[in-house]
Amino acid sequence: MKTLKNLFINNRRWAKQMTQEDPNFFKNLARQQTPKYLWIGCADSRVPANDIVGLLPGELFVHRNVANLVIHTDMNCLSVLQFAVEVLKVEHVIVCGHYGCGGIKAAVEEKRHGLIDNWLRHVRDIYQRNERSLKSEKGKVALLRRLCEMNIEEQVVNAANTTIVRDAWRRGQYLKIHGWIYDIHDGLLKDLGVSVGEK
Ligand code: CO
Repeated sequence: MKTLKNLFINNRRWAKQMTQEDPNFFKNLARQQTPKYLWIGCADSRVPANDIVGLLPGELFVHRNVANLVIHTDMNCLSVLQFAVEVLKVEHVIVCGHYGCGGIKAAVEEKRHGLIDNWLRHVRDIYQRNERSLKSEKGKVALLRRLCEMNIEEQVVNAANTTIVRDAWRRGQYLKIHGWIYDIHDGLLKDLGVSVGEK
């Protein structure tokens, strides 16, 4: 139980530090959240959304799942997207994947990983649709890096094709969808240049 006790000690220290920096921090936060961004990222523990972009709690609305997928029938992701767009009125949706993604790697392997293979089947579909161009990459590492990028591009399109985003654009609401990738080797983000929405 030592580890879990440590988490509570960490929590007390963190809350104290936040209050020292801004005595009204939690008071303001409890009143409302006004994030301008929705982050759809991988569940990977090495990709902590707020930290990467230097934002505080309350500044980033976050949804994470394995391999940062936006699936048209995933009520969890769609509910987050709908709430973010229609209630919080975020201006940017950031689909952020990362190099070295275990989900992407597992999706192209022949061996079984259990239930998750059905979730990762969506990534395997992208792999199979682009097999020829992916196999022209030099080596397995380069192939997987490119597939990580392709997956993000596909999820940006998926997000843009949801009824939620379509309706927002039809109403004239300002909303952009972005595809970013994070490199766990140097902690740096890269914009894949596949943004859609208003200029
Ligand atoms: Co990942």
